[in-house]
Amino acid sequence: MITMRLIAVSGSLRKRSFNTRLAELMSELAPEGVELDMQTLHGIPLYDGDLEEKEGVPAAVKGLRTQIQEADGLILVTPEYNAGIPGVLKNALDWLTRPGEEMKPTFGGRKTAIAGATPGAWGTAFAQAGALINLRQLGCELYPGYLRVSRAADRFTASGADEKLREQVTKWLQGFIEFTQ
Ligand code: FNR
Repeated sequence: MITMRLIAVSGSLRKRSFNTRLAELMSELAPEGVELDMQTLHGIPLYDGDLEEKEGVPAAVKGLRTQIQEADGLILVTPEYNAGIPGVLKNALDWLTRPGEEMKPTFGGRKTAIAGATPGAWGTAFAQAGALINLRQLGCELYPGYLRVSRAADRFTASGADEKLREQVTKWLQGFIEFTQ
């Protein structure tokens, strides 16, 4: 029986993305009773107020919004670009708050966690720290636990994630599930 629904959104569009693979790993490692769906941001255009006025909110944004609203918890799995979150992720967050009255039902009080993977040494720590200011603005209820995956190229091998990463993700996920309950 499903008792909790989570959605993990990858902030990378790359096919072999470490972050998308991390989101998939979360889905695989979710315990019984927890359904964890993974979503990417493909199909979301750049935010443009004229486009919004002419055509309204794009279908890809509406679909993602529904998934977030139906989830008990939201996980943003973000790459780090120049010490910040990628434009595609910020762009998606911006669209998801349009029109303005949609912000509260989508993000207000939503249990939210930030995670990220990088081939570098700092586990996307800067991007995660930078995201806090945006997520606070959106009214998310933030999980204080960090999931920072460093040296991702060593952790995701050809046969999948190594044991250390699987343990790291399982433990972190358990904490977020308890926070969300
Ligand atoms: C990066 N990368 C990177 N990594 C990091 O740890 N800190 C950083 O500030 C940056 N900056 C950065 C800027 C730009 C424009 C790119 C394209 C890349 C490297 C980045 O972590 C790496 O490309 C990851 O593989 C991206 O995540 P995905 O696509 O594998 O999920």
